[in-house]
Amino acid sequence: MHSGVEATAYLVNESRARRPDLSQDPFAGAWIPDQERPAVRGLWNKYAEVTYEHDDLVVSLRGRYIADTLAAQLRKDPDTVLVSCGAGFSSYPWLLPFAAALEADLPVMAEAKRDRAAELTAAGVLPERDVRHLPVDLNDAAARAELSSLVREWADGRPVAYVAEGVVFYLPARTARAVTTLGATFGTCAVSAVSYWPAASAGSQVLADQRDWFRSRSVPEEASFLTHDELVTLFGTEIEDRGPEDLQRRYLDRVIVSEAGLIPEYVAVAWT
Ligand SMILES: C[S@@+](CC[C@H](N)C(=O)[O-])C[C@H]1O[C@@H](n2cnc3c(N)ncnc32)[C@H](O)[C@@H]1O
Repeated sequence: MHSGVEATAYLVNESRARRPDLSQDPFAGAWIPDQERPAVRGLWNKYAEVTYEHDDLVVSLRGRYIADTLAAQLRKDPDTVLVSCGAGFSSYPWLLPFAAALEADLPVMAEAKRDRAAELTAAGVLPERDVRHLPVDLNDAAARAELSSLVREWADGRPVAYVAEGVVFYLPARTARAVTTLGATFGTCAVSAVSYWPAASAGSQVLADQRDWFRSRSVPEEASFLTHDELVTLFGTEIEDRGPEDLQRRYLDRVIVSEAGLIPEYVAVAWT
């Protein structure tokens, strides 16, 4: 397992794997080979001790909402292709019948995902899908521009669904904004789903506790925050914007844990 920001991909994978009822991701448990799963569970347990014990709830709900959004786009246009930045071990290309998908992440993660996807496909665990795994540092403006031109060529006029889940808050403010709106540079983006931390939550105790854990795992502590109005301006359109309490009401009919006790992760969806 990796240290640094890539470790967060393992952490949130474990969160989805713990709540398949909520995440509706039957592949989450398969991404990590059995022999590595105890270490990932240990990582999660330590995180739960230091930060909060409900990451399974927050991560499963955000992923469920994004999957529902992507499914709605596919119902509108089955030719839609998927682009996911900071894809980690998310399963959207295998959960939904995308004609093709392109996943970008830091080099070690892109490679780990490519290798494991090939193994799981060969074993018949994952369905056959046309997925490209690209090593990209989203902090690098030239790499983002290259990714955009690659997507334009690859999508070839097909509508693109763009996902940036659990990643923009790790990026410096300007980059976070550029990655939030990266979909607009693809030319045919139909929907963007981006998760973010609202500026109003910058003083959250859970985020403060998370910074302690980040320090212990060599994850940069700096975080970027956004506001609803900023997102509306960035996307140039009204957005759907749902926080962890909204998502609990939506999928559990009630709020089990109030937002003050959770990582305040919101999902903004812009239909363009
Ligand atoms: C919390 S994980 C989320 C993974 C996935 N989207 C999910 O929800 O399961 C954050 C992901 O962002 C990736 N990431 C962080 N900084 C990045 C950067 N500068 N460029 C590309 N990917 C990055 C990490 O490697 C990791 O896979």
